[in-house]
Amino acid sequence: MQSTNDIRRSFLDFFADAEHQVVPSAPLVPYNDPTLMFVNAGMVPFKNIFTGLEAAPSPRATSSQKCVRAGGKHNDLDNVGYTARHHTFFEMLGNFSFGDYFKEQAILNAWTLLTKEWGLPADRLTVTIYHTDDEAFDLWRKISGLPEERIIRIATNDNFWSMGDTGPCGPCSEIFYDHGAHIPGGPPGSPDEDGDRFIEIWNLVFMQFEQSADGSRADLPKPSIDTGMGLERIAAVMQGVHDNYDTDTFRNLIEASVSLTGVKAAGANQASHRVISDHLRSTSFLMADGVLPSNEGRGYVLRRIMRRAMRHAHLLGASEPLMHRLVPELVSEMGQAYPELQRGQALISEVLEREETQFRRTLDKGLRLLDEATSDMGDGAELDGETAFKLYDTFGFPYDLTEDALRARNIGVDRAGFDEAMARQKAAARAAWKGSGEAASDEVWFDLAEREGSSEFTGYTATSGEGRVVALVRDSAEVTSADEGQEVIVLTNQTPFYGESGGQSGDVGTIATPEGLKVTVTDTAKPLGRLHAHKAKVEAGTIRTGDIVHLDVDVARRDKIRANHSATHLVHAALRNRLGEHVTQKGSLVAADRLRFDFSHPKPLSDEDIAAIEAEVNAEIRANETVSTRLMSPDEAVEAGAVALFGEKYGDEVRVLSMGRTAGAGRNYSVELCGGTHVRATGDIGVFRIISESAVSSGVRRIEALTGESARQWLVAREDALKAAASVLKTSPDDVPTRLSALMEERKALEKELAEARKQFALGGGGSGSSAAVEEEIGGVKFSGQVLDGLNPKELRPLLDDAKAKLGSGIAAAVAVNDGKAAFAVAVTDDLTDRFSAVELVRIGVEVLGGKGGGGRADMAQGGGPDGSKADDAIAAVKSALA
Ligand code: ALA
Repeated sequence: MQSTNDIRRSFLDFFADAEHQVVPSAPLVPYNDPTLMFVNAGMVPFKNIFTGLEAAPSPRATSSQKCVRAGGKHNDLDNVGYTARHHTFFEMLGNFSFGDYFKEQAILNAWTLLTKEWGLPADRLTVTIYHTDDEAFDLWRKISGLPEERIIRIATNDNFWSMGDTGPCGPCSEIFYDHGAHIPGGPPGSPDEDGDRFIEIWNLVFMQFEQSADGSRADLPKPSIDTGMGLERIAAVMQGVHDNYDTDTFRNLIEASVSLTGVKAAGANQASHRVISDHLRSTSFLMADGVLPSNEGRGYVLRRIMRRAMRHAHLLGASEPLMHRLVPELVSEMGQAYPELQRGQALISEVLEREETQFRRTLDKGLRLLDEATSDMGDGAELDGETAFKLYDTFGFPYDLTEDALRARNIGVDRAGFDEAMARQKAAARAAWKGSGEAASDEVWFDLAEREGSSEFTGYTATSGEGRVVALVRDSAEVTSADEGQEVIVLTNQTPFYGESGGQSGDVGTIATPEGLKVTVTDTAKPLGRLHAHKAKVEAGTIRTGDIVHLDVDVARRDKIRANHSATHLVHAALRNRLGEHVTQKGSLVAADRLRFDFSHPKPLSDEDIAAIEAEVNAEIRANETVSTRLMSPDEAVEAGAVALFGEKYGDEVRVLSMGRTAGAGRNYSVELCGGTHVRATGDIGVFRIISESAVSSGVRRIEALTGESARQWLVAREDALKAAASVLKTSPDDVPTRLSALMEERKALEKELAEARKQFALGGGGSGSSAAVEEEIGGVKFSGQVLDGLNPKELRPLLDDAKAKLGSGIAAAVAVNDGKAAFAVAVTDDLTDRFSAVELVRIGVEVLGGKGGGGRADMAQGGGPDGSKADDAIAAVKSALA
């Protein structure tokens, strides 16, 4: 027996031999198509090649593409578990010709592989063609020799394939395998075609048109080939089983869940095991491709699938979470073909376990409510929408889970009633918001959020991608288009642009279409915390709502922001390590050119603190550990050691960023709640440099720092300045400090010498004033007065102390004149202070000098005035006061 893995390999080898390039499966989240939730066919990654937007890397390709059909045009979720061939996840084998070969070669390839290479008997095969496609009819006749009645013309859309409501499409030809007369059912096109006997195994699409939203079809540049063969179906055929769930991969997965639950895959329990095995694949592969459970968009589809499986695990009586324990079996089955599964294994297991633990808390109660609400209902009854909504809103039951739970009893659910209840709740939320007094300019955002839902942010893993323009806003009002030269805010259904939040700057970049639209995005905001509003200017062309556009983030700038954001987490941890647990974040700014971190701490950081913190952060950077992101409930996050902001409101789920080496208690160096974008590994930060530390307000300090190239440039600028200083000092940079302190010493000594020289000069009569002290007696008191040009005012006191000593008993006064201004001092010997006050005498002189006041004590006082030319008059005034 050929295993599923063998069959996949043999298919790819066959087409590789026929000169097809083997292309690895693209991720499940389409990077090139905003209208699609998930990749749902093998041709999706090649869509732009078919339409001529992108050049083909080679004229032929082959792949085994991961597909998810849950949500959107091709949605198989509701049927999974109850049929032999429905899956939410499957692999599509395909061969593609991009304007190279067409119908004939495609049919020949398919026929050769099936009947020659794989040896399927021709008499088991039947084909269909589009009713008008005579060419295909003739080719099938010629190549396969099948009788005319086994080349069936079909007039319906079954033989006209399209990817979605828009995109490449064309007539197709399907190949059916007859599983044998023992199974009821007729050939395609017959009244009992819905039976299970004739199973479609391969679809050859003759890609010729591109369908627009209005339903019109244009010719593709070159007729091409897209084929799709479900690996699970062909594996069933080649392994001689009729049911996809009996192929090796599914058997092994189901055996694992049987052995873990101890419940056989029989009777009513068979569906549960099937659901679990199928949903294990889709949820694990989605997570491996970066989708994480949430309450919106792709994340919610993922959660719906998970919860559907978890209810079935509960149905099987699993007493503890089951899904994560099946992951090892899945990885052993499929990990070799899809290495992303191995890489993601830890994350997948962890998220599945958390989700199941969390869901089990409300599952029981919800099921009880459901039982009560339906206990007296019979076959064909319908559960009211209000109850279905309550199950959704309070117990976390996705709508389809409720439907699935009632399926066995043939009870339906009132979908319209459910939708109505949901709409009522939204209206109430809106009324509450209106009452809260938010700015009217925000109203447009509220309308848009309600109508369009949250923007899906794809920027954690990508920096470019496609989006559909869902709204354009100018002056707080919606417009339908914006022309060249106009500024407009652009809202798309999904975007890689980060909207400013959590201190991290919004992204800038471009929005463009191949038709020539060019828009620059100068900033991205995040109104209501859930819409990504691109602040933009139309450079060329006209942007309209409904446009499919290509969004490109300025990657170099984003990389700098990422480095700065991750560095902010590291410095936060380093601050707490060094200063203590009282350090909490008070604010932060993460821009492209720098980062700023405000934190609580009562006093300035010492130079040693700063050096130690910087060294610690750089050590973590060099350790270059991978940064990991986990999604958990806020409580779990705190339990995991995340530094949470108290008083901050968090949603049901938070992103938990762990970075750095493992520190105490098995935790990483830094664990924080954060919605920002980060480096892949700390080494990407390069280097970290604190450039300032200052106060913001009492008890709050601020650090500003640089990383990477900005830090390097800053360091280079410092070095250049040092070199310039060294060159002025005529020494080497290393010797600058020694040389400078020597110079400072020298300067001090020189200043001292200069002061002394000035004093001597002044005392010696070198100046123009009446420098020599004139001693005389006035009213029986000895008095000496002098005016000194160029004397440093600081020298007045020692000068008068000398004069007092000389007088023995008496009063001395002196004026020092510098740059036309006068400093004035008077001294009174102690024996005379009860009769004369130096303070009063100084004030008399100061007034003459055009100044005011003067101060000191009774024995020595000083003051000054602007008019140095009155110096002699000031002395004279004191003298007359004594007389
Ligand atoms: N794109 C075609 C399909 O999905 C082959 O059936």
